[in-house]
Amino acid sequence: MAYASCANFQPLSNSLGAGVTNFDVKHYIKSGSAEKFHDELCEYQLLCFRNQELASCDLISLTKLLGPPLPHVLQQYSLSGSPEIYVLSNIVENEKPIGNPREGFGWHTDLAYMQKPAAYTILYGVEVPEVGADTLFASLYKMWDWMADDEKSYIRKLRGRYSYLKLYEQRENAEPLTEAQKQRTPDVTHPFARIHPKSGREGLYIGGDDFVAVEGSNKPEHDFNRIWSLFHDTTVRFHYNHKWQPNDLLIWDNRGLIHTATDYDTKNSRRLIWRTSVEGEEPIASKVK
Ligand SMILES: [Fe+2]
Repeated sequence: MAYASCANFQPLSNSLGAGVTNFDVKHYIKSGSAEKFHDELCEYQLLCFRNQELASCDLISLTKLLGPPLPHVLQQYSLSGSPEIYVLSNIVENEKPIGNPREGFGWHTDLAYMQKPAAYTILYGVEVPEVGADTLFASLYKMWDWMADDEKSYIRKLRGRYSYLKLYEQRENAEPLTEAQKQRTPDVTHPFARIHPKSGREGLYIGGDDFVAVEGSNKPEHDFNRIWSLFHDTTVRFHYNHKWQPNDLLIWDNRGLIHTATDYDTKNSRRLIWRTSVEGEEPIASKVK
């Protein structure tokens, strides 16, 4: 990995993230190994590469280098001929949206509603507004480290229930899900205390608006509110704000990280982001101590 060893990783904040310089992702794809990426993602959770000239085939190759692609349920918003690439956009061509204009607003971790949620998400900025449409990140690992031991012990016994159907119902004017889309997304449960499969790091795991209930609790309503409180505290205490430039490439590890897009002037600005996801493992629960 001589090429990757030239790269320079600079922390982006006290909580998470590294900016990577002296690195051409296209050259890296040709190396055929993602070992360096996995290591750096364990350490920083989020990697940011500026000024990357990528075609859709490059993005797919990079995704496959990191693991099996996880195509989005809403295939009507995939890039033509590339089911792996989910298009986020407010652009309308021939009276038809070229991507999903609603996706990603509100704090969440990607695809928590799947049995095997996304390990990694990759976003590539094809067109980005000059103002707004930032992506904010916050570290659930940092939150876990900050929590008191007795609260960690309590949370290790609990699981969260996730529902894509409930999440989807909240979207105004969204077209109804097909039966096939519903069947692909039954409710699932995941532990709140989750172990990273590579680093062994323990962290808090909470999805977002797809999180609908606490299981394993004698006081589910109280615990539901407490989990949301921890989630909110994370966004306040341990965050990083990414301001986009065209040709930015972001890669992050969803296991200990939540994120959200911010608003922008959708009438006068154009936003076109390509997104891919890498399938992860079924979340590994911490041992109850
Ligand atoms: Fe997301």
